[in-house]
Amino acid sequence: MKKSDLPLPKNKFAPLLLKWNKENNTRQMPWKGEKDPYKIWLSEIILQQTRVEQGLSYYNNFIKTFPDVHKLAKAPDEKVFKLWEGLGYYTRCRNLLATARFISKERKGKFPSNYEDIKSLKGIGPYTAAAISSFAFNLPHAVVDGNVFRVLARVFGIAAATDTTEGKKLFTSLADDLLDKKQPGLYNQAIMDFGAVICKPAAPLCTTCVFKKNCVAFLTNKVYDLPVKEKKITIRKRWFYYLVLVYKNEIAIHQRTTKDIWQDLYQFPLIEANTDMTVKNILQQATKKNWLVKSDYEVVSVSPLFKQQLSHQLIAGQFIRIQLKKQAKDNNGWVWVTKNKIAKYAFPQYINQYLKEKLGQQSLF
Ligand code: ADE
Repeated sequence: MKKSDLPLPKNKFAPLLLKWNKENNTRQMPWKGEKDPYKIWLSEIILQQTRVEQGLSYYNNFIKTFPDVHKLAKAPDEKVFKLWEGLGYYTRCRNLLATARFISKERKGKFPSNYEDIKSLKGIGPYTAAAISSFAFNLPHAVVDGNVFRVLARVFGIAAATDTTEGKKLFTSLADDLLDKKQPGLYNQAIMDFGAVICKPAAPLCTTCVFKKNCVAFLTNKVYDLPVKEKKITIRKRWFYYLVLVYKNEIAIHQRTTKDIWQDLYQFPLIEANTDMTVKNILQQATKKNWLVKSDYEVVSVSPLFKQQLSHQLIAGQFIRIQLKKQAKDNNGWVWVTKNKIAKYAFPQYINQYLKEKLGQQSLF
């Protein structure tokens, strides 16, 4: 094909993709070919949070613990958060529970079987609705996710920004045109796999690609310039200073209740700042809050900074371990827990990392 024949005629896209899928796609995942909408839904929600390799163990744990939607619906919130621990973005987990309870109670456990009803469920947007509709019910809805943006932007040389309304519309409309309407489930799975293993963000396998003779980006040297995003994300930096208050064989934790990152997860009493602070300063603030009483405590250790990068925030956390001679007067909404009980609570990742290190050294309690 000459450059002037570009871009690829739309009706040639699905046959080439499905040829690759049939002959060269060796990717195996437990939810592939799955027809149970509950399992598909779970896998897709988990995969929005993480890569397939990491998502696998979460998926297997969820299915083992909650084999059907009623079991998930009946589970206490804490148990579900604990299984979700490490995936981040807990709103997804809360929505998952709300939808499981809705389907279990209001629909007697039956998942809706058309796109609009599926999309009306809490936490399910156009992408997940298309995935469930096509995989479980073979309905002709094209998935449009990061993989699809990348594949289409490159093969068809589209420079429209994927994070604008017009860009999204354009890609969605093209994706709908390209979809193999006779086998939408197979096609959708194939394009996602193709984006993940061939048309990768970095180091894509262009020289062995089925589209190498038709890919605008490859033939015009724009593979690394596509897809395009309009907005640059700005990263907010936050400093979280935790007071690890130990009294006898118990430690104080409390639940984050505000609408912010890690809502509903547990943490140690926290002093937050938008710049770094000295330990002396932190202790002063804690005393002001009546968390500490002068001469009734001793600072045992100060951890290095633990960093956790989220999509729009960088959190620096530090743990100041303090032995109390007397327990704080006010309860402050804290729960005092022993070593044996602490594993029942869900924490942000780096708190777990800290706990694991300290419990391993037996140096916390
Ligand atoms: N990412 C999200 N859903 C996926 C799926 N079903 N297969 C592969 N990658 C995915």
